[in-house]
Amino acid sequence: MFARIAMRLRTSTMSQAAALSGAAALASYNYNATHCSSPPAADWPKLKADLMVLCEDDTLPNPSVDGAAKGSLGGGGFVAPMLVRLAWHSSGSYAKATDDGGSQGGTIRFQPEINHGGNAGLKHAIGVLAPIKENYPSISWADLIIYAGVVAIEAMGGPVIGFTPGRSDAPTPNVAPSKDKRFTPDDRLPDAAQTQSHLRDVFYRMGFDDREIVCLSGAHAVGRCHTDRSGFWGPWTNAENAFSNEYFKFLLEKTWTVKKTHEGKPWTGPKQYEADGGALMMLPSDLALIEDAAFKRWVELYAKDESRFFEDFAVVFRKLTELGFKPEEAAKRKLANRPSGAMAVFTEGGPALGGSESGAPN
Ligand code: HEM
Repeated sequence: MFARIAMRLRTSTMSQAAALSGAAALASYNYNATHCSSPPAADWPKLKADLMVLCEDDTLPNPSVDGAAKGSLGGGGFVAPMLVRLAWHSSGSYAKATDDGGSQGGTIRFQPEINHGGNAGLKHAIGVLAPIKENYPSISWADLIIYAGVVAIEAMGGPVIGFTPGRSDAPTPNVAPSKDKRFTPDDRLPDAAQTQSHLRDVFYRMGFDDREIVCLSGAHAVGRCHTDRSGFWGPWTNAENAFSNEYFKFLLEKTWTVKKTHEGKPWTGPKQYEADGGALMMLPSDLALIEDAAFKRWVELYAKDESRFFEDFAVVFRKLTELGFKPEEAAKRKLANRPSGAMAVFTEGGPALGGSESGAPN
């Protein structure tokens, strides 16, 4: 108990210091520069326990002008959803045709990627992970970013997601994508102001189909939008740190109207939708999932069957976070570095979605 509290305090203090030191310093962090060349073998169960504590810690810095009342210091809301977004944005730069981008390299911690418009605010996620990284020098930033997202989903009551370590770190920032394919240009992440054809362009580029797009979007059950990050405001559900199928239920059950006011004043932000007197929100890209019949069938499936959503999400989130990463190559590396047992699922390769990927829900 005391050890747990002491660790919480230490993590919190270190994170605040890390955040104060600025994203640029964090972005150029490289353990080889500060540690011996043979770091100790990774203790994955301990890392998982540390990340679980991090996800529950409401004293971590996550600043935002929005003043979210719960979850962290500074108004940004809960940290766990932000870690999920970090893992997704680290992976979502992948392009199947050119086999570049993705979580390999952990390039999202570097400028300019951390400052790409779509990544606004994610420097705070790097900030809360930096003290953890110090304690696990043998684990790459690229693996830590993904594993933190995987653990955050479980910490919020979501499915246990398989994880294979072995991603490499790009050691220097700002290399031209032509010289190192782990680096990617801006503009590869989805634009929330757009709808179905854009979603298909972006996710088909990564190698996903309609069902997988809908399934992944269910992560919007947790977290919120911030006016000082994306420009949008508010949470999708009433339980911002509880992983569930409520996003799908709310899409179908609530009446969504264009937001006109915010806290008694005219809304001047980008077009978004609201329900429940403005307490809840949906993005134009969210509503596209019920405006498009081919997407909507999957929304209906996941709204009525949460366990099916959890099972599918575990498969598709793993696929997302392994884009451009060859787990079988990693598996040949040191076995001691594998997460194991109840702490994480380790399997060679990854299972496919159950049922027909493009046919009717079953
Ligand atoms: C389908 C296309 C998507 C669009 C257009 C989109 C857009 C957005 C936007 C605008 C925000 C608000 C950022 C902010 O202001 O802080 C956000 C937050 C979030 N997104 Fe998405 N997103 C998409 C897909 C995904 C996927 C695939 C995942 C994960 C599998 C995901 C997970 C999250 C989470 C957890 C947050 C909350 C972050 C926080 O609370 O700090 N999103 N997304």
